[in-house]
Amino acid sequence: MAKFLPGGLSARLLVLTTGFVMLAEVLIYLPSAARFRETYFEARLEAAYLATRAVLAAPDEMVTQDMADELLADVGVRAIVLKRRDRRTLMLSDDMPPDVASTFDLMERRPLDMIRDALMVLLKPGERYIRVIGAPPSHPTDEITIILPEAPLRAALRDFSWRILGLSLVISLVTAGLVYFSLQWLMVAPMRRLTASMMAFRAAPEDASRAIHPSGRPDEIGQAETELAEMQSQIRAALTQKTRLAALGIAVSKVSHDLRNILATAQIVSDRLAQSDDPDVRRLAPRLVGSLDRAIGLCADTLQYGRADEKPPTRTSFALAPLVDDVAFAAGLTGGGRVVLRYAGGDTIVDADRDQLFRILLNLLRNAVEAMPGGGEVRVDAVRHDDRVVIEVADNGPGLGAVAREHLFEPFRGGARAGGTGLGLAIAQELVRAHGGDIALVRTGPLGTTFRLDLPTGRA
Ligand SMILES: Nc1ncnc2c1ncn2[C@@H]1O[C@H](COP(=O)(O)OP(=O)(O)OP(=O)(O)O)[C@@H](O)[C@H]1O
Ligand SMILES: [Mg+2]
Repeated sequence: MAKFLPGGLSARLLVLTTGFVMLAEVLIYLPSAARFRETYFEARLEAAYLATRAVLAAPDEMVTQDMADELLADVGVRAIVLKRRDRRTLMLSDDMPPDVASTFDLMERRPLDMIRDALMVLLKPGERYIRVIGAPPSHPTDEITIILPEAPLRAALRDFSWRILGLSLVISLVTAGLVYFSLQWLMVAPMRRLTASMMAFRAAPEDASRAIHPSGRPDEIGQAETELAEMQSQIRAALTQKTRLAALGIAVSKVSHDLRNILATAQIVSDRLAQSDDPDVRRLAPRLVGSLDRAIGLCADTLQYGRADEKPPTRTSFALAPLVDDVAFAAGLTGGGRVVLRYAGGDTIVDADRDQLFRILLNLLRNAVEAMPGGGEVRVDAVRHDDRVVIEVADNGPGLGAVAREHLFEPFRGGARAGGTGLGLAIAQELVRAHGGDIALVRTGPLGTTFRLDLPTGRA
């Protein structure tokens, strides 16, 4: 059974139902109290009528005072007047007829007045006498007037009211209980199921096992369950599609980014090819082939995986110097350009994915070249420690701008250069991290910029 919450739907329903049933009982009580009072009077009128019959049966239609007192006490009144054939006759009366506070004529009863009078009996305490005029139920054509004390009526009416109150409480509690359990079963429990499903869905929208299974009930709740299930599956599908599209978008951006760099190499090579004679062609041809291979490999990998994640690095051990040479060439740093490369890594051997390290260094060198249109120097240092190789790429350019610093390594956001996409550093970081290493901006300012790569060896 679901938990009972003081502010929950079930608790409110319980309180409301009890309240409404009590209200209904009060509405029923008012006419019943009026009817109770009327019946009380009718019983007295009937008894009084019988007493008058006894007197009429007596010799000379006269009884002794003792007899009269006895009859009056039996009926519970102080005086009885009989009206027959338009003639009123005082039939019985005690010695000292009391003062009468009010007169009620049952012949002219109006429902609202009866209710009001019944309430007045309860609300106005005091020893007073009333006169009641009415017909005995057995002889509706005769008219009897009685004078009687109000106190016994009040006691009887109170007794009646307490009994009604007790009964009302029992009825309202039983009704409220029944209403409560029916609503609990029909509405509150299914609503909780719906809410729980919504909350579970919010926590993990992709988790299909948390979807609601419609119970198939034919009512509005069943409809809500079906709609919710439908909505959940649509949102889940949209979410999956969106995630895939986002991944595809990132993948395509990365492919085009690196493809552009790689094809730039091919372009440089072809530029040189155009100016060169046969020996140059022979020397440059392998580089052109290598570049195109990388471009094709990247596209093929991306298409094969169909996802944004980079392929895990395939580590090999190789000398850094020739790789830097290749990268410098690709970045246009060779052949007497304005930017000069100084390699100070000696014969450091690195243990990494050669293609990926190529792309990392190419992004760093290209950034340095692009930052120094007027010329400058790029220095690549490498030091091998026991379990890692630290490579530093330093230039003496103008340093990173504020936007680039603020969104460093964030894809599409760090780019502060016209024509740049802002992906280079983000890709470099992802590739370095895939090797278990990291990339950091060590220093930047008007005197230059230094990035440091920290590459753990694969065997560490
Ligand atoms: N060595 C550097 N000197 C000065 N600014 C740099 C240097 N390296 C990067 N930056 C700044 O950081 C920004 C981000 O570089 P990043 O390589 O991520 O993107 P990009 O070069 O703008 O575009 P992309 O490399 O995708 O073509 C650059 O736009 C540039 O402003
Ligand atoms: Mg760049």
